[in-house]
Amino acid sequence: MQDIYEMMHTLDNPIKNTDTYLNKPVFALISEIAADKNLRCYVIGGYVRDCFLKRSSNDIDVVVEGSGIEVSECLAVRLNTDVHVFKNFGTAMLHYHGMEIEFVGARKESYRANSRKPIVEDGTLEDDQKRRDFTINALAFSLNERDFGHLVDPFDGISDLQQKLIRTPLDPDITFSDDPLRMIRAIRFAAQLNFHIVDEAIQAIGRNRHRIGIVSKERIVDELHKILLSPRPSIGFKLLDKTGLLEIIFSQLHALKGVETSEGRQHKDNFYHTLKVVDNIAKTSDNLWLRWAALLHDIAKPSTKRYDPQTGWTFHGHEFLGAKMIPSIFKHLKLPLNEKMKYVQKLVLLHMRPIALSQEVTDSAVRRLLFDAGDELEDLMMLCEADITSKNEETVRKHLNNFQLVRQKLKEIEEKDAVRNFQPPVSGELIMETYGIGQSREVGLIKNAIKEAILDGVIHNNFDEACRFMKEEAKKLGLIEKNGE
Ligand code: CTP
Repeated sequence: MQDIYEMMHTLDNPIKNTDTYLNKPVFALISEIAADKNLRCYVIGGYVRDCFLKRSSNDIDVVVEGSGIEVSECLAVRLNTDVHVFKNFGTAMLHYHGMEIEFVGARKESYRANSRKPIVEDGTLEDDQKRRDFTINALAFSLNERDFGHLVDPFDGISDLQQKLIRTPLDPDITFSDDPLRMIRAIRFAAQLNFHIVDEAIQAIGRNRHRIGIVSKERIVDELHKILLSPRPSIGFKLLDKTGLLEIIFSQLHALKGVETSEGRQHKDNFYHTLKVVDNIAKTSDNLWLRWAALLHDIAKPSTKRYDPQTGWTFHGHEFLGAKMIPSIFKHLKLPLNEKMKYVQKLVLLHMRPIALSQEVTDSAVRRLLFDAGDELEDLMMLCEADITSKNEETVRKHLNNFQLVRQKLKEIEEKDAVRNFQPPVSGELIMETYGIGQSREVGLIKNAIKEAILDGVIHNNFDEACRFMKEEAKKLGLIEKNGE
């Protein structure tokens, strides 16, 4: 926080203060245009916030007391670039040297009960700032010649930045009801920046949570991605739960919550376990889809939970059912139904395999895992390591050591047998050609028998042995070679 303090002490000389952030030539150009047109322009929102947080940002929002479109069109001419105008919204956007600069006329907004789309009237900078989501996002720097670089902060956003607080400029019930997406944005910023949402705002989210229903799934998922990509995603998911949003937007994840006791035996709370796994994976990988796999790896535990007096609580087959649930979860959340989904599905399906392996490592089990995991093997191992959430350090060390052995074994077998991403050494064409048959059940049976024999270690992964094996299998099926053998 020292940096913000330093900046606050020199705020009377803001030009020097914001040098590195406002010294881009484009700001001076906007300033000239504003002077020519006798309009006032301000850079506002995330860019200003990130300047104080020393986060780099290339998204620049400029608010104009007057027509944002007019200023953007002049700027586009001066920069010799294109501008995209959205007349209905009174906004315009241009791209320049990796920056995305958006212009908007300062506005007074009011919202209707059943839509995120506001009714807009022209307004002043302060009207515009009032209608923004959080005090830390309502900060503005003047781009006007008279006071270039001056910070306009009517809601004391600087002090909220310093105290790491998320607060709305207006009564939070109004801010959230105006645009319910902001409820999840508040939580996303809390997770991304490790900030605290003030109590009034938390309570208002609870009261307004059902209004999330008017927000599109795509926007919700964008925020979920950002929560997942934050340094400690659990912060966001715990807040979603605390405010009652999680149950509405992601019921399957909410269903993981809770513990049950039978005959004095309790199972762990799978929601908090899952969040720990996600936090663990966040320390080792930035891969968004690996983080989704961590979030969903135990998703079928509630539906597979059983109590057996002999063994206690079990979740048999939760990995199979979990993998089956992935397409409907992806569809419901409007996540992509493509190879990303298949990747998540594969990791959910396989996440118990390395653990089973660490108990009994046979060559054939290792070969099968290599074959089934293919390119995803390393990510799978990372997921499994993240899945160790015991509080007992000794237990954690023991499991990690076992995984080390599994990794070593995987490496040895892969070097020896090369079964990862393996292509059968005998093709379907060769089988058809050898026996003078067309595509048929027999071809599939022989191919599969060869694959199984290689994975079981009955034969080695090479053409000669596979060819010999093909002949044995074909004989069993009564096939005769074209050349009479
Ligand atoms: N804003 C708002 N309400 C929203 C979305 C945005 O008031 N639902 C305002 C905030 O002032 C915000 C600015 O518009 O700072 C720009 O929004 P956006 O680019 O979505 O977010 P940033 O704050 O820039 O943060 P990030 O880039 O991390 O999304």
